[in-house]
Amino acid sequence: MADDCFGHPRLAAIYDPLDPDRSDLDAYLRIVEEAGARQVLDIGCGTGVFALLLADRGIEVVGIDPAQASVDIARAKPGSERVRWICGDATALPPLQVDLATMTANVAQAIVDPHTWQKTLRGAYHALRPGGYLVFETRDPARRAWEEWSREKSYRVTQIPGVGSVESWVQLIEVSWPLVTFRWTYVFAVDGQVLTSDSTLRFRDREEVETDLVGHGYVVEDVRDAPDRPGKEFVFLARRP
Ligand SMILES: C[S@@+](CC[C@H](N)C(=O)[O-])C[C@H]1O[C@@H](n2cnc3c(N)ncnc32)[C@H](O)[C@@H]1O
Repeated sequence: MADDCFGHPRLAAIYDPLDPDRSDLDAYLRIVEEAGARQVLDIGCGTGVFALLLADRGIEVVGIDPAQASVDIARAKPGSERVRWICGDATALPPLQVDLATMTANVAQAIVDPHTWQKTLRGAYHALRPGGYLVFETRDPARRAWEEWSREKSYRVTQIPGVGSVESWVQLIEVSWPLVTFRWTYVFAVDGQVLTSDSTLRFRDREEVETDLVGHGYVVEDVRDAPDRPGKEFVFLARRP
């Protein structure tokens, strides 16, 4: 079951307007260019922002996400017919031989269940051509990002065309290591509806991720910094030999 912030139609519709600065995707675009990738699989594509950026560059893209409402938003965007959208996770992939697979914006952390995580790494591996890359980020647990997840630090009011004013904030619910649970609250001024969305993320340290990748046959080529969040994230570049 998708978290409501991705799977509830009213919340999926405001995902992009609430987070319009997607400079986090620049680093992924550079990696796609560096690799000369012509076919890309975007796992956890959400509302399709990255998939559509790639399609704009003439790249053939498959976007997959288990949240139907987010995939519906992606499908409704201009140019979306150039992307092959699938509702599901990496266990639901058709046979593919892509040059590169991505999991942008901490999708890896949203995959909490260890079996699903292993199946995702395996599914991505089989979707890559030999020599292809899996590229994804995960927050460095040592930076304790959840300490910033409070109403005081996150409260804002956003004016969204066609929707009106939306108040939103996040609250930390529980740290039960390595899982961190938090709740987003959204208040729609137009009708007073209050929606909440609970999410749990799994924090994995660099060694754990490297071990998992190697266990599935990947070669860890590089672990980079996310340029827009220096020192906070590990960006893994893993190659299928
Ligand atoms: C923070 S959003 C990121 C969406 C998108 N990658 C982006 O850059 O905007 C996390 C996404 O991970 C998806 N997700 C959760 N579990 C997943 C799984 N097992 N496999 C693939 N995606 C998953 C969610 O539905 C959600 O769309």
